[in-house]
Amino acid sequence: MSLHVAVLMGGSSAEREVSLVSGEACAAALESRGYRVSRIDVGPDLPFRLAALRPDRVFNALHGRMGEDGRVQGLLDLLRLPYTHSGVLASALAMDKPMAKRVFAQEGLRCVEGVEATLGSLADGLPLPSPVVVKPAAEGSSVGVTIILDDDPRPLFARNDLDRGDRVLVERYIPGRELTSAVMDDRALAVTEILPREGFYDYRAKYTEGLATHEIPARLSEGLYAQVLDWALRAHRALGCRGVSRADFRFNPDEGEADGLYILEVNTQPGMTPLSLVPEQAAYCGISFEDLVEQLVREARCDS
Ligand SMILES: Nc1ncnc2c1ncn2[C@@H]1O[C@H](COP(=O)(O)OP(=O)(O)O)[C@@H](O)[C@H]1O
Ligand SMILES: [Mg+2]
Repeated sequence: MSLHVAVLMGGSSAEREVSLVSGEACAAALESRGYRVSRIDVGPDLPFRLAALRPDRVFNALHGRMGEDGRVQGLLDLLRLPYTHSGVLASALAMDKPMAKRVFAQEGLRCVEGVEATLGSLADGLPLPSPVVVKPAAEGSSVGVTIILDDDPRPLFARNDLDRGDRVLVERYIPGRELTSAVMDDRALAVTEILPREGFYDYRAKYTEGLATHEIPARLSEGLYAQVLDWALRAHRALGCRGVSRADFRFNPDEGEADGLYILEVNTQPGMTPLSLVPEQAAYCGISFEDLVEQLVREARCDS
């Protein structure tokens, strides 16, 4: 009589590989707690597979396009299968960075000054003085971000994952520190600082894989730590997120405690490998990986 949970993983997004690791970890955790688990590597036949399986719940371990942007959530609403994490609207808003920034600004959270553009238009010059960050307007984390230190936009056109017609967001580059905070159960869990493994915080270095370590709790003043927790919770609520989410921040100490914090984005399907940031914050709060996964399943629901 154990509950049957379908774990959605993989898919076709740029973050497929991370999702397979997240999904397998969550599936194993659920099995260890006695759930009956079906693993689904998501493809175009998903509606038929779900209709045939009729699971009691769906654990969404997808990342990026299709899995994190509201589309799979809409399908699950239609099939009336309760699912973990955020619903259609929160997922779609959070995935679209310019849209999410409007919601954050409305909530009174400081966002980085930015301009929406198409990639092709940047060949004629950048809309903001460099250094700037250029990122796809609606993509997940692994697709990456390009930092332009001078006025030369050529590195953007060397990338093969972007099309000249793609919508991009050009933002002022915020030097300084990288912070993140997970929200679960209507409470922000902790603040982690993501630090380069060696030496000085050089903004090229951060994008070389494997060079970052996590510091939890982040070494911040009490006031700033509380501010990050508060903003993560308010961003989660303003978007209407469910289950667990993770907000990413930059903090520039040169702009001062009161003015230096910026919210970058909210991830509605954050990484769920046992070593990912959210499980790490949960563990810091005394919540085991199995408890975290099981709690998400218990809270699974559809949008009515
Ligand atoms: N305006 C910015 N200034 C400095 N660094 C940035 C800025 N925007 C993004 N970054 C860096 O790029 C990373 C990814 O950007 P983010 O907005 O979180 O999108 P995603 O994680 O979906 O790619 C951030 O964690 C941060 O290190
Ligand atoms: Mg991010």
